[in-house]
Amino acid sequence: MHPPAIGVTLNNYETGQSTTDRLHMAAASSSLQSQAPVCPGQICLGSVMAIPGRGTSEPRPLEQVLGQARKLLEQYYATLKQGSDSFDDRFKQVELEVCTTGTYILTKSELLFGAKLAWRNSARCIGRIQWNKLHLFDCRHVTTCQEMFDALCTHIQFSTNNGNIRSAITVFPPRTSSRSDFRVWNPQLLSYAGYKNADGSIIGDPINVEFTEVCTKLGWQGEGTQWDILPLILSSATEGPKYYELPTELVLQVHLTHPSYDWFEKLGIRWYGLPAVSGMLFDCGGVEFPAAPFNGWYMSTEIGCRDLCDPQRYNMLETVAVGMGMDTSTSVNLWKDKALVEVNIAVIHSFQKQGVTVVDHHTASSNFMKHMENEQRLRGGCPADWVWIVPPMSGSITPVFHQEMAMYHLKPSFDYQASAWKTHPWKEHAQSGKVSVKCKKFHFKQIARAVCLTTRFYRAALLRRIKATVLYATETGKSETYAKRLTEIFNHSFNATVYCMDEFDIEQLPHESLLLIVASTFGNGDAPENGEKFAHSLEAMKSNQVVIDASEDKLEYVAEKTSSIIELISEMDEAVNYRNKAENEQLNGELVTEETTPGDNVSIDNVSNENHDNESNEVAITDSEVQNSVSGEEASCGADYAGLCSGEDKDSPVPREHDVTTPTDEVSPQKHGTDELKGVVKNSQAAKKNSFSNLPSYIVDSLTDVQEEGETEENKLNGRLFEMGTNEATLLDETMNTTNRISESEDHTVSSILSIISEVKDAGSVKRQLKHINAIKSCIMENVAQMTGKPLQHIRYSVFALGSSVYPNFCAFGHYMDHLLARLGGKRLLKVAEGDEMKGQRRAFRKWVADVFPAACEAFNVEDDSQFIKETFSSKLSMDTVRFVKAKQHQLDHALSKYHNKKVSICQLLRKTNLHSSDTSRSTLLLELDAGQEIQYQPGDHVGVFPCNRKEIVDGVLSRLTIRVDLDVPVQVQVLKANNTSNGVVKTWEPHDTVPSCSLRTLLTWFLDITTPLAPIQLENLASVATDPEEQRRLLQLATNPSAYEEWRNWKFPHLLEVLTEFPSVRPTASLLVTHLNPLQPRFYSISSSPEVHPGQIHLTVAVVNYKTQGGKGPTHYGVCSNFLQDFPPGQNIHLFVRSAHNFSLPLSRTLPIIMVGPGTGIAPFRGFWQHKMAHAQASGGVGTLGHMWLFFGCQRRTMDLYHEEKEIMTSRGVLDKVFLALSREPSVPKTYVQDLLIQEAAAVYHKMVVEGGHFYVCGDCTMAQDVHQTLQRILMEQGNMTQSQAEGIIHSLKEEKRYHEDIFGITLHTTARIQMAAHADDGPHDVRGGVAA
Ligand SMILES: Cc1cc2nc3c(=O)[nH]c(=O)nc-3n(C[C@H](O)[C@H](O)[C@H](O)COP(=O)(O)OP(=O)(O)OC[C@H]3O[C@@H](n4cnc5c(N)ncnc54)[C@H](O)[C@@H]3O)c2cc1C
Ligand SMILES: Cc1cc2nc3c(=O)[nH]c(=O)nc-3n(C[C@H](O)[C@H](O)[C@H](O)COP(=O)(O)O)c2cc1C
Repeated sequence: MHPPAIGVTLNNYETGQSTTDRLHMAAASSSLQSQAPVCPGQICLGSVMAIPGRGTSEPRPLEQVLGQARKLLEQYYATLKQGSDSFDDRFKQVELEVCTTGTYILTKSELLFGAKLAWRNSARCIGRIQWNKLHLFDCRHVTTCQEMFDALCTHIQFSTNNGNIRSAITVFPPRTSSRSDFRVWNPQLLSYAGYKNADGSIIGDPINVEFTEVCTKLGWQGEGTQWDILPLILSSATEGPKYYELPTELVLQVHLTHPSYDWFEKLGIRWYGLPAVSGMLFDCGGVEFPAAPFNGWYMSTEIGCRDLCDPQRYNMLETVAVGMGMDTSTSVNLWKDKALVEVNIAVIHSFQKQGVTVVDHHTASSNFMKHMENEQRLRGGCPADWVWIVPPMSGSITPVFHQEMAMYHLKPSFDYQASAWKTHPWKEHAQSGKVSVKCKKFHFKQIARAVCLTTRFYRAALLRRIKATVLYATETGKSETYAKRLTEIFNHSFNATVYCMDEFDIEQLPHESLLLIVASTFGNGDAPENGEKFAHSLEAMKSNQVVIDASEDKLEYVAEKTSSIIELISEMDEAVNYRNKAENEQLNGELVTEETTPGDNVSIDNVSNENHDNESNEVAITDSEVQNSVSGEEASCGADYAGLCSGEDKDSPVPREHDVTTPTDEVSPQKHGTDELKGVVKNSQAAKKNSFSNLPSYIVDSLTDVQEEGETEENKLNGRLFEMGTNEATLLDETMNTTNRISESEDHTVSSILSIISEVKDAGSVKRQLKHINAIKSCIMENVAQMTGKPLQHIRYSVFALGSSVYPNFCAFGHYMDHLLARLGGKRLLKVAEGDEMKGQRRAFRKWVADVFPAACEAFNVEDDSQFIKETFSSKLSMDTVRFVKAKQHQLDHALSKYHNKKVSICQLLRKTNLHSSDTSRSTLLLELDAGQEIQYQPGDHVGVFPCNRKEIVDGVLSRLTIRVDLDVPVQVQVLKANNTSNGVVKTWEPHDTVPSCSLRTLLTWFLDITTPLAPIQLENLASVATDPEEQRRLLQLATNPSAYEEWRNWKFPHLLEVLTEFPSVRPTASLLVTHLNPLQPRFYSISSSPEVHPGQIHLTVAVVNYKTQGGKGPTHYGVCSNFLQDFPPGQNIHLFVRSAHNFSLPLSRTLPIIMVGPGTGIAPFRGFWQHKMAHAQASGGVGTLGHMWLFFGCQRRTMDLYHEEKEIMTSRGVLDKVFLALSREPSVPKTYVQDLLIQEAAAVYHKMVVEGGHFYVCGDCTMAQDVHQTLQRILMEQGNMTQSQAEGIIHSLKEEKRYHEDIFGITLHTTARIQMAAHADDGPHDVRGGVAA
């Protein structure tokens, strides 16, 4: 069959819509599609069961392995969104491995990815909407059948999960040769035996007769019942087949009952809860896994129709139909259809009652339609086998029936393979009839291959003992470096993996055992961008936990409430009985007189019929009660309904509900026609409503509704009752879901109960619902028990928090993480360790590692070998362990993208303007960049600019190095690594983890930080190559004496060239130096434009940073990026990326007032804000409805007033309502800061924020932001007459409501000066109160 060259149109005949499947081209174009097409030539074989697999069990030819590996890895890396380099590197590795060993080892994440994809590609599976939720048990290291069995028990237990089924796959070692396959011989992990009797009849499941015989031949003996769980038959590369009986407690079975037919239970039908396919081959990236059992959960029809009612299976249809009293001798009464529905109802009902996950075919079909829609959007199609997807019953009333589908095969896949017992080399024992396993004969090559592969897995398994996960969040890369170091160290005794927080699958978190967090703090106590998502997920988990915690109390309350509702319903039951009885009497009386009225008769008859069923002896109402109740006085006293009905409280002076239903009082039926009769009923209802006044209103309403609907509604009741019977399971399901989603526990549960109560229409239904509610009650109680556990209670964790004590919220994010993890049940190994950038961050890290490693070893009972940590920290890269080799040149944008893990864009510089008048020595630039159409941003967002180091520093450093390579030839840095192998320690040269391949000059220009003062450890490295002993002593002193270091650093703030100049005997080798330098970080700038005013452009406002060190007497230092931009020629391309600042965006409502405080370059984002408002004003015909915009700007002198003219224009157009200018160094003007102006406008600021619900934005230096925060607090206290803590509370809520926004530029000039001032207190006073340099 030749695939069409274009997409295939697929119609939906229900909706009239059509889609185009293009995904099939991926299958068609794959040259690897070696399996035969399903429909050859002109004939459609759509209903053929066995889709051919690869057709052979011999290992795949190498080129096929590589072809499929490439396809899988391409898809895998595409989802990781990493540069193609990562793919290239990985694929090269795979190529090498395949060429040398014939196969390769998929990483665990690749394997999981492949398994999920195989499920996603399974054209016959209707439950694929769940494809992304699959748990992997990676058992590629097992060698024996016993290990396989243990792994399968773990799988079954995990997936069964007490009925709350979870999807999982266990993957055993891959195929190395056809004869050494690992196999699970069972088609499903759980199944019932089938025994053939001599007369040909079968006990048990006929489908398993053949396999049961295999089990018997291997020595297993079943009990011979209908429901014997078969043992697992397993074979490994060298062992087996062996059988293993499954422990009974592991196998969850559901005994079927029917919600309406009591006799159904006696049929003794049961089914297991876990559908786990174990006979298929998992084909993943060219590697075949013949043993890879996987499971989802049941769709009810699989059991109800196929397993139980297929004639070639349990064939229960006739038995059930007979039970239902149906005539089975004819087909025209549709007995088969009716019985089939009832069996399916029983399946759903029983599974739900026992709390075992099951999905009905209607829900599954709708979900599948949703899945197809998703897949169409995400992949351009969805392979689907219509024949299998349409459920085995009610086809055309499910939406899938009306949907055309395209059937094709994509890899990875789950494929059919020959049954293991058919390919196995048996040897028959002549006498016993039993079999033994023929000794498998292998060629040496096969053995070597199998042993080699297994040994690799085994070694990997040995090395990887307890899993440790290291998560980092970083803005400037330090946390990442520390995290990677930590991982190396933990890998000594644990199986440690490192992830950036935003790449970590949060769903895995509860399965972790040891979690180590390394995270910095950014903004003003915020998470680094790549930690935000993780933090939100934890936060969400915590919110649930809060509810769970509260739920321990709340659920008690819900449970109590349920009991009381049950009591009330019992009372209602009785009351309804009573009401029916009384009304019957009344209406029967009326019937006599009113029988001439057609219609009414019918309804009355119905009522009385209905009531006959419900008349029970439970309600005993004596004449005397009726008499007592006549008193109107008593009727107004409120009711004790229970006492009345039970008759226990006869003496209590209560009104009598049935007073009002007694026809004799108010109206004599004989005297009235139909209308009057209706009036009677109505009046009696109104009175009844009064008498229910002690009951919760919802019950009263429910009862009253019954009557208000009038008797003519009673007909409908019968129908509804039937519906309710069938709906009961669904209702219970809903309620269970509700209680499962315990975060909404109380309200939902109660409302579910209420919704059931609202269904209550008569005593019959009350009884049914009572049962139902009892079931709910037990669910709730179970949930109370389950929910007391905390999601991370099995995790041990520790946090290393990076920060800078210059900031008020020191290490806030690390502390926040620590707090959240503890709140979620995690057990702290150590209290948070803080790494202060201002003093000894690296030292703090080392100390933490030295503490946390033994603590983790102790917690997990792992042998503690902390001595190696010392060695690790002292083991340095030396000239003998680092080298350069020639390499391929990469594009700069590509290399930057890979190095920084960012999507790098290239923008042309259009224009550059100095915003200061020429008489100031400082520059602040407006840069206008052409951003093209692809870059999207909002006002307030940032760009990160990749700068390069100044040429004179780069050249100076290069001239001081010992270099053996050409400075302009691309090179790769390689490191000699020692790996522990089974053959001992093997040393190999490996590419450096991070340093990119490029020329040495490019490396120092674009990638490495050569201007930030070196850290102590780097000085220590330099000391090791200093030839002058005095220089060496001084370097070591700086490296080891913190106060000497701080003083030296803060005074000189030396860049690398200055250090090398200060220590002339130090001439490091280039290779050694580059491995010790940190990455040159991109610099952030707030976008100063609105995309609506300047489409396709990005504007930046950049203050050029120049300063003299040594208290203003040292050499001039040039800020790397600002000077790079200052010198940048228009027309050239800048490398950058956009970062969204969702905490600093304009309010959604345009009518709210906005106060913007941004001294110096803090004004940058506000230019974008006012431009945006202007665009909105133009679009909406004026500023009339738009909220007020106030700007507080500050600078030293009037000549530095940024965007002065633009602000005036904006003011004249009413875009900016007020602009305040604070001048701090203008001659003849008193020193004023933005804070002072805020105080002057205190009343208005208060009104805008507190009364009008405005938004407050602060942008710029951290110190200024802190001052403004204090100022606002003061305004709130003074204007709102608040205490300090009340004002703090208000600001806190403003932040929570996202009405107080801060955009912190970090420590800029003034803060740095303050630090220096602190270090050199005698240098005289500095002006540190202002804003950012402008
Ligand atoms: C989110 C965010 C948004 C930002 N938006 C803007 C913006 O819109 N406009 C803007 O101009 N900047 C902005 N910045 C600041 C910007 O990112 C850079 O920090 C700034 O341009 C300086 O970078 P540089 O490479 O020129 O200087 P660097 O080479 O990084 O040098 C600056 C460093 O030099 C040191 N230093 C500075 N002055 C002195 C001194 N007097 N004595 C001793 N040491 C000193 C300090 O350590 C300082 O951090 C923003 C920063 C952030 C984090
Ligand atoms: C713009 C900016 C804001 C910062 N805000 C804080 C802060 O609020 N609290 C803090 O302790 N450290 C703060 N820091 C300091 C960083 O946490 C510190 O530099 C850390 O070492 C960076 O680690 P990283 O490279 O892993 O991101 C800030 C640094 C910058 C540049």
